[in-house]
Amino acid sequence: MSLRLGSIAPNFQANTTQGPIDFHQFKQDSWAILFSHPEDFTPVCTTELGAVARLSAEWEKRNVKVIGLSVNTLESHHEWIRDINETQDADVRFPIIADADRRVATLYDMLDHQDPTNVDKQGMPLTVRSVFIVDTKNIIRAVITYPASTGRNFNEILRVVDSLQLGDRKKIATPANWNVGDDVIVHNSLNNDEAAKLFPGFKIIKPYLRTTPYPN
Ligand code: BEZ
Repeated sequence: MSLRLGSIAPNFQANTTQGPIDFHQFKQDSWAILFSHPEDFTPVCTTELGAVARLSAEWEKRNVKVIGLSVNTLESHHEWIRDINETQDADVRFPIIADADRRVATLYDMLDHQDPTNVDKQGMPLTVRSVFIVDTKNIIRAVITYPASTGRNFNEILRVVDSLQLGDRKKIATPANWNVGDDVIVHNSLNNDEAAKLFPGFKIIKPYLRTTPYPN
């Protein structure tokens, strides 16, 4: 069955660079970013894992645990981490799953079905660049999928987490290119009277487009 927004992120047990984990126990009541990369010792992936590691304080600030995955072995991951740290001004401390039997990749539908070059030496598909943003209740709140050839912007993933976490606290949505501190959109589920109580001074630009300053 396909995983959708609102689905429970399926639990799994796996070997990682930080030891064996049970996914739900690992994240407990934190948020989690479960993300796959195609292959160790490849250039785009090296820059991506370095970028994730350099953002460690930002993940922590948002109560997010990050966990990577590829179908490579633990030995490969450990060797590659040395290269990432050496070349990317990074200190990789988050776990990376060694999913050599593709169990987790299959469970989360991460395998590449369209790029004939994104395969291992046996011609078996590698993973694409999947991102699952999972909330404190293990609910999948966002899914982002990039092809092997395109490195992700992890600041964008932080921005999505910011939007989701703010939306959980306040009845708002966030507009295009929004960042923390910018005006937000009053949620459509509120009528104007309810909006006025929650957001005094909110602006009605059109009946369906109402904004209010960033709510703290
Ligand atoms: C890379 O990380 O550079 C990469 C990996 C697989 C396919 C294409 C690029």
